[in-house]
Amino acid sequence: MAEEPPADPDPMILPLGTAIVAMSDAHVPQIALLELTVFTDPWPASAFREEVARGARGGYSRVLVESGAVRAYSVAWFVADEGHLANLATDPVHRGRGFARAVLRDLLAEARRRGTANVWLEVRTGNAVAIRLYQAHGFRAAGIRKGYYQKEREDALVMVLPLEAEGDRGGNGQHGGGIGAEGKE
Ligand SMILES: CC(C)(COP(=O)(O)OP(=O)(O)OC[C@H]1O[C@@H](n2cnc3c(N)ncnc32)[C@H](O)[C@@H]1OP(=O)(O)O)[C@@H](O)C(=O)NCCC(=O)NCCS
Repeated sequence: MAEEPPADPDPMILPLGTAIVAMSDAHVPQIALLELTVFTDPWPASAFREEVARGARGGYSRVLVESGAVRAYSVAWFVADEGHLANLATDPVHRGRGFARAVLRDLLAEARRRGTANVWLEVRTGNAVAIRLYQAHGFRAAGIRKGYYQKEREDALVMVLPLEAEGDRGGNGQHGGGIGAEGKE
């Protein structure tokens, strides 16, 4: 009999009236507009269309929608047993409503389903809100990438969530260098 993946230790409750769905081409114009509002180094619409097309080939891109509007979105990649969160943002008008938390939990549930060993991400060292969000979900600092954000010459904090340790709390959660792909976090 196939082994059951470990249960989500923190089951997700979606904010009322919202749904998390697979990113599709129909969402891309809204996402591309939000990118321009949110980031100094926005991904172009074509990058999101590529993520939609990547689909089953290791991609996991989701949007949180409310009344047909995109409120938050994430882009993640799974390669072998490593996961990488490459992009996560919430519409500035709808922050503080738990949308990023919901999208992140959905991603972590997927990572557990896939038997992912570690989920990695990069975040600006000055992005206290995002760092707090990740820490609240068990991510911890794994290193610094100097000058990762070239426009502002800001360093990236590399964070990792070792999921393999969940089924073996006695383990030390040691890990390697993560997957090579570069996200924008
Ligand atoms: C970081 C970001 C995604 C959070 O989105 P959000 O939908 O507002 O977040 P949530 O409402 O789900 O809040 C989740 C957690 O984030 C933190 N947080 C959210 N708003 C915060 C604020 N104004 N001040 C401090 N912490 C805050 C808290 O830890 C919060 O958890 P809590 O409510 O249990 O304390 C959003 O601020 C954003 O899009 N920022 C710009 C893009 C970005 O930085 N992306 C992440 C790149 S690594």
